[in-house]
Amino acid sequence: MVTPPGPEGSPAASYDPMRQFTELAGDVRDPYPMMAEIRAGSPVLQVGLRPRPGQYQHDEKAPRIGALFTVTSHECAQQVLTDNVRFSSAGYAMTIGQVMGRTILEMDPPEHLRHRALVAKAFRARVLDQWSDAVIGGCVSELIDAFAGDGHADLIRQLTFPFPVRVIARILGLPEADWPRFLRLSTELIAVMRNWDRAVAAGRELRGYFGEIIADRRRNTRDDLVSQLVRAEVDGHRLSDDEIYPFLLLLLPAGAETTYRSSSNLLFGLLSHPDQLDAVRADRALVPQAIEEALRWESPLLTVARVAAEDVELGGVSIPKGGFIAVSLGAANRDPGRYSDPDEFDIFRAPKPHISFGDGPHRCLGMHLARVETQVLLNAVLDRLPQLRLDPAAEDPHIHGLIFRSPPDLPVHFDPAGAEGARRAVSDRGRGLP
Ligand code: HEM
Repeated sequence: MVTPPGPEGSPAASYDPMRQFTELAGDVRDPYPMMAEIRAGSPVLQVGLRPRPGQYQHDEKAPRIGALFTVTSHECAQQVLTDNVRFSSAGYAMTIGQVMGRTILEMDPPEHLRHRALVAKAFRARVLDQWSDAVIGGCVSELIDAFAGDGHADLIRQLTFPFPVRVIARILGLPEADWPRFLRLSTELIAVMRNWDRAVAAGRELRGYFGEIIADRRRNTRDDLVSQLVRAEVDGHRLSDDEIYPFLLLLLPAGAETTYRSSSNLLFGLLSHPDQLDAVRADRALVPQAIEEALRWESPLLTVARVAAEDVELGGVSIPKGGFIAVSLGAANRDPGRYSDPDEFDIFRAPKPHISFGDGPHRCLGMHLARVETQVLLNAVLDRLPQLRLDPAAEDPHIHGLIFRSPPDLPVHFDPAGAEGARRAVSDRGRGLP
């Protein structure tokens, strides 16, 4: 059943998906002054007339796209995202839908609620807690074991990037022997904005692969997400393979790319503010607020899209039916009307929810999973890598990007002898030894 990853030297092996990500992010260091200027002028701004011809692949069922608007205030962003009647998600059919198929991301009511309800149970906080040690903790430990003895690492390539795809592979119940192939195809799929043809080909291959997994779970049901989808019913009928594929494909860009970038931003925030890193290391009760502050400060996904389903008025601006609306989560999270000193990374700021997981009916289905993953990852890094610090020789560590944001690399040093002691202590604790 399992096809191995491409042999060394094959086009698949020489292709470097990490470089694609770095290029895709673009070297835009600080888009926030530009966003602040736009927001100060108007929270909603018409930025263009129509997309350039050929900018999107057109789909007969997709709405016709009109003028382009951008939304930069927290209040207006929330108004758009919580109202899925006036602000439709159907525009995703022309972008990500071309690669994934019809996912819940592009559905409007009532179809959206029915399909989302089918999978929502698997992502509830209570269900996820059961996985945190066995599945999520296991994935982090394996990755850290591989470099803990070296005294140095690039935390992106060696930890935050491979981590969430491994978690998803386990949640889906994929055999371990398939992980290298799954990782390669997932990475190609989520680099869709950079290399469309390769992403489409990866999507096709993943469908074939998932087809075998689905057929297997139809014969032998198990305790994994694919089995749950196979058993699920909408309006009294079981989901077909064609209804299950898009959801499985969506989990990769939605679940893997965002989480890798957000945990990288958190580590970057703490490593570049060593006083706050020390505070979290000393008091782990600060971990959840550090995670939320990093999500607010550097939203991994800067923008989500909607299309006006009717003529609407938003922030004093008229948007005609069909108007394409780019909601800037990054700008909303740094709205000075809501957050004081919004550009500062400050884990001690008064808690106020951010909008990095979106809002309203499409609010991120995987946010509990993302939080648990990040919590487990940060605690493991603090437990296992003593004296962790940015590599003093690192050239210009920074976060960049205009579509997605994260650091291109995160070279660190730590004490390898201490790391070995920490490994033994953590493993003894796991076996209940004093
Ligand atoms: C820090 C990590 C994450 C961030 C910042 C994030 C962000 C978002 C945002 C902004 C949306 C809303 C999109 C919109 O309204 O157009 C969304 C939706 C979604 N996310 Fe996440 N996400 C993260 C992690 C995850 C994970 C781990 C999973 C699952 C494995 C996941 C699965 C989904 C799904 C299935 C949707 C579609 C929900 C719907 O349309 O009803 N996400 N996410």
